[in-house]
Amino acid sequence: MALRNIVLAGDDILRKRCREVAEIDDRVRMILDDMIETMRSQNGVGIAAPQVGILRRMFVVENENGEVIEAINPRIIESSGSQTGEEGCLSFPGYVGSVERPEYIKVEAFDRHGKTMVHEGTELMAVALSHEMDHLEGILYTDKATGIHEAEAAPAEDDQAANGAEQ
Ligand code: CO
Repeated sequence: MALRNIVLAGDDILRKRCREVAEIDDRVRMILDDMIETMRSQNGVGIAAPQVGILRRMFVVENENGEVIEAINPRIIESSGSQTGEEGCLSFPGYVGSVERPEYIKVEAFDRHGKTMVHEGTELMAVALSHEMDHLEGILYTDKATGIHEAEAAPAEDDQAANGAEQ
């Protein structure tokens, strides 16, 4: 595994629509491993492939229990309600803003073995899944956010699931 450089805001890569993953092979699995390592190194809650410079439809999200969801060619199959809270993004380090997201979201995706998986999320997980799905369309949270401001002092390491966690 290796850390990858995170693409920062202002780079056109983050604005492109990602293409489907054509084949789930060792290269894809290696990229997923690197994305997980890179996300954890920054205490992030999620990261999408374009944030490491790869314009393919995949992301990873880590839940409160430290379990990682890997989503390849994900699609939203259900979404309902709304919640508004502060969130950040690893591509905009140090800032957060308030965004309206679904309260509940259900995503269908392939895992690293090509198996179809369904992932449901509420609260922070719904925010994370919605945020990462947006990345695959070239949409950034700053497009939707109000009141973007500098985050408080760096959170403690065990605080990564708090609102405002970077994704
Ligand atoms: Co993000």
